[in-house]
Amino acid sequence: MPKLISLPTFKDKRGSLTVIEKIVPFEVKRVYFIYNSEGYERGFHKHKLTKQALIVTSGSCSVFVKNSKETLNYNLDSPSKCLMLNPEDYHWMNNFKKETVLLVLASEYYDINDYLDNDS
Ligand code: TYD
Repeated sequence: MPKLISLPTFKDKRGSLTVIEKIVPFEVKRVYFIYNSEGYERGFHKHKLTKQALIVTSGSCSVFVKNSKETLNYNLDSPSKCLMLNPEDYHWMNNFKKETVLLVLASEYYDINDYLDNDS
């Protein structure tokens, strides 16, 4: 099951500061970010081992997660939202805006053999 959490955020007149510390339940081995995806859909896979934490640092996007019973929809529209995905969470993303930057923290190094394209 995915889990949406609120990241600690400190706001004052100078702006906002969001912290990712002791909250991601895995050692981060890889960081990547997705941008310039306005009008496109991405993802459509799950993983064998990889756990991921998704944070939109700019703009917004939708994340869909399909399990055996239902499809869950998350609107990542704030940098203080963090969506934790487990390996078995088949997911895809759309509704990217021009300014959207989707930051992903991953528990494993990139390995094409860790991808599973079927949703069952
Ligand atoms: P892909 O997994 O298709 O992106 P998405 O999950 O958004 O559909 O990755 C796009 C390309 O980037 C593909 O050629 C593989 C490469 N890639 C890496 O080399 N390292 C990585 O960590 C990731 C996530 C992708």
